[in-house]
Amino acid sequence: MVKYMIQGGVPLRGTVNISGAKNAAVAILPATLLVDGVCHLDNVPDISDVRLLLDILRDMGAKIRRLSPNSLEIDNTHVRNIIAPIELVRRFRASYYLIGAELGRFGSAKVALPGGCNFSDRPIDQHLKGFRSMGAQVDLKNGYVVADAHGHLGGGHIFPDMVSVGATINIIIAAVLAEGTTIIENCAKEPHVVDLASFLNAMGARISGAGTDTIKVRGVRSLHGGSYTIIPDQIEAGTYMAAAAATGGDIQICNIIPRHLECITAKLREMGVKITEFDDTLRVQRTTPLRPTTVKTMVYPGFPTDMQPQIAVCMALARGASLITEGIYDTRFRYTGELNRMGANIQVDSKIAVINGVDGLHGCSVRAFDLRAGAAMVIAGLAASDTTVVEDVHYIERGYEDIVGKLQGLGAMIKRIETPDGRAAQQAG
Ligand code: EPU
Repeated sequence: MVKYMIQGGVPLRGTVNISGAKNAAVAILPATLLVDGVCHLDNVPDISDVRLLLDILRDMGAKIRRLSPNSLEIDNTHVRNIIAPIELVRRFRASYYLIGAELGRFGSAKVALPGGCNFSDRPIDQHLKGFRSMGAQVDLKNGYVVADAHGHLGGGHIFPDMVSVGATINIIIAAVLAEGTTIIENCAKEPHVVDLASFLNAMGARISGAGTDTIKVRGVRSLHGGSYTIIPDQIEAGTYMAAAAATGGDIQICNIIPRHLECITAKLREMGVKITEFDDTLRVQRTTPLRPTTVKTMVYPGFPTDMQPQIAVCMALARGASLITEGIYDTRFRYTGELNRMGANIQVDSKIAVINGVDGLHGCSVRAFDLRAGAAMVIAGLAASDTTVVEDVHYIERGYEDIVGKLQGLGAMIKRIETPDGRAAQQAG
């Protein structure tokens, strides 16, 4: 049982380095299953979702060599098509990419339905529709997706019913070694979709159009090994931007791609935050009170749903009323109850939150309900008076590399506290 204890009220100051993108890494690692040869990957974030995926690949027979905390060599030459252990697969969302990767490499897949952050109902019907369009028979049996292309996945023309990051990536992965050309319409354009395509192209795939509405994948016979550097994490960077804004700080955020952050930068500027862009760095300063604003979460390049809870903390501290409309998920506002316990004034009606700014938040014990909600609790704790204890931080550690160390480097008074399970159980009981 791990929790964070935060003594709030300290404006963040200093420099923070952003890690590789979680949502690119969790797509690229399963995609290495398609490669004949050794993949050398740099800027791999050291987070628990990545560690779980590496365990699954090892179980399948992958040889993985860690060259440094963020560099890996993966040799999948001798992997076998085993049923990935359900207790690992169910612990994170991106396990669904194993379906596309196994179908692509072996022509069949049996993977448990994914787990991960369950802030909303998150079906994968569009992924399965894509695999079916490519000739696979796909069934759901006893909590598993069972897909079989009888050895031959063919090209397809696929129209997903909605823009889905996961379906776009999963269909690309499955299509790379398929016979013929696959055309995917209504594609997600997120930076990690483009990164996955760039990785596969660097290994010999023929994917065009990534970053646009239509992606074309011309099937190739095999992929070769090579080196690739994962892009910086847009949402991790955005989270530190929001933390600087909420605490009235002045920080430099390094190893980023400013273009990926424009939707967040524009919104924080509207709120009165000064942001200066350099080549791969941003300086974020807040010296005046935050102004209220409105946000509607949308697919890229719109404002990301994964930044919704963090910007909500800034809005909770702004002078006036702000509005958030959640445009991606049916529900993603459970965390607002925790912020209200810290003194925020947020009312939620279905997909809309009205946030009346307050003069300040006060510390108390709060829970991280999911990864981004957890990040918002940390930001709220940094901005609040007194002490905040954030529980269930294993969610946060799924996606933020060394968040405690990085925040300490910015002057935050935050500690990671591990309680032995027995004692935690005793306290809880
Ligand atoms: N949807 C369906 N059917 C599908 C796929 C999606 O109905 O087959 C719906 C979803 O329920 C949702 C919407 O379509 O309402 C968009 O879902 P999408 O498929 O784009 O999301 P995802 O691939 O499951 C990824 C990220 C999420 C991020 C979303 C949206 C990964 C591993 N996860 O999820 O990241 O919120 O895209 O940008 O890439 C996070 O990092 O905290 C996180 C939750």
